[in-house]
Amino acid sequence: MSKKLTFLILSGPTKEYIDPVRYISNESSGKMGLALACYAVKNGHKVIFISGEVKEYPKRVELVKVTTALDMFKASKFKLQTADIIISVAAVADYRPAKFQKHKIKKSDNSMLLELKKNPDIVKYCGKNKSNQVVAGFAFETQNLLANAKLKLRSKKLDLIVANGRDSFGYDKTTAHLVSSNGVIKIENRSKKFIAGKIIDETVRILENIKSFKNNA
Ligand code: C5P
Repeated sequence: MSKKLTFLILSGPTKEYIDPVRYISNESSGKMGLALACYAVKNGHKVIFISGEVKEYPKRVELVKVTTALDMFKASKFKLQTADIIISVAAVADYRPAKFQKHKIKKSDNSMLLELKKNPDIVKYCGKNKSNQVVAGFAFETQNLLANAKLKLRSKKLDLIVANGRDSFGYDKTTAHLVSSNGVIKIENRSKKFIAGKIIDETVRILENIKSFKNNA
């Protein structure tokens, strides 16, 4: 497909503030998101990059910086229909504090209870609301990697899920499984740049299939 496509890439961690100085977050270097965006841009595509705070952001993209999962959800819903392919590699915090304390909480008691509320599942929303678009997500698992990834593929209505294990955090090289209804492609111990290229190519291939199926129907 030589056509210029629009990618919506969600990347980085979200931060859920408890008070002005304390927050809940997830581990995320943003390296895979960066590699995905760079490869897509290099291939002439447009990239809308919605990202939590990371060390390095991609160049030549439409950059939307966000802090919380709710910010990321709002920005994603706003941009969803403008994209051909949506990829979420963001480490979205599953929960946020039920109440934000305006002033720094004083330590007084020996223990403290913090009530949490579930955040929306952004990529699931994209999967459920897509129209002739490709939606891809990531699954980090410490056990039953492929079985859990396949469950997420179905429950979030994704076209592709990239499953990886403990060796992915912060490292430049990793092993990834590209899981779709076509089966599993294993890419072993390769750079995130290399894997990012394979993921983008695979999402473009799935989009081509959707479009040609629609044209022949
Ligand atoms: O369910 P789990 O968090 O393991 O799913 C991972 C995938 O779902 C990732 O692609 C992640 O970006 C996305 N996700 C999301 N919104 C959430 C939680 C995860 O978009 N609240």
